[in-house]
Amino acid sequence: MVITKTRSPIRSNIGLKAVMAVTGILLVLFLILHMLGNLKVFTGETSFDHYAHWLRDIGTPLLPSTWYLWIQRTVLVAAVLGHIGSATVLAMRSRAARPVAYAHRRKVHVNYAARTMRWGGVIILLFVIYHILDLTTGHLNPQGDPSNPYGNVVADFAPERWYVTLFYTLAVVTLGFHLRHGAASAFRSLGQQTPKGEQRARAAALVFAVVLCAGYLVVPFAVLTGLVA
Ligand code: HEM
Repeated sequence: MVITKTRSPIRSNIGLKAVMAVTGILLVLFLILHMLGNLKVFTGETSFDHYAHWLRDIGTPLLPSTWYLWIQRTVLVAAVLGHIGSATVLAMRSRAARPVAYAHRRKVHVNYAARTMRWGGVIILLFVIYHILDLTTGHLNPQGDPSNPYGNVVADFAPERWYVTLFYTLAVVTLGFHLRHGAASAFRSLGQQTPKGEQRARAAALVFAVVLCAGYLVVPFAVLTGLVA
């Protein structure tokens, strides 16, 4: 009798790739909603601050105030850990499976993408930590008033603090490259496995990444140029 050993899904590469995909989708959903929320800055101070306060009250009166926010934060932290954890294990396995590098060009291409994703991910993580200390807790913000998120944003990206806008721009562009690669892989898996399908997946991923980057960057640049004050 032949006994076949089956690996639990989480221990197989397919399982880990599923974890990467599900956590990636959750993070992208947050990014889309956060970008749309940020654009409310163009509707004025009262409206933006009202929106920010509403975020803390989602789910009330069923849930006590800020509970929904903490549930969302827990899910996001779990998604970030799952995303990084599965990416690390997959990278280690792929390295262990091929101790000798390929000699032909495709490997060079794949290595470049993998390196970009790895370092891009690290930069995005460091940015998010800075960003939370800046606009959520207010510790690194020149105003840092939790009751006035609009004022915090305006103080943050003021023209004399142009270097903050520069730093945010670099972080958001890094995020754009990360998303373009991640989205292209996702669209490739979902679409037709043909050269045409590959081309479409790349184009759709590029459009998605550019729209998201522009949606984020328009806010600091509007403050920098005095459009939002
Ligand atoms: C560049 C433009 C951005 C602006 C103007 C912006 C603005 C803000 C503001 C005002 C808050 C505080 C909300 C509040 O306390 O009510 C916040 C929180 C946050 N932002 Fe951003 N953000 C930007 C980009 C990003 C990016 C690119 C990411 C992720 C990669 C991100 C992730 C977060 C997270 C995780 C929080 C904490 C949410 C929470 O309190 O649970 N933001 N952002």
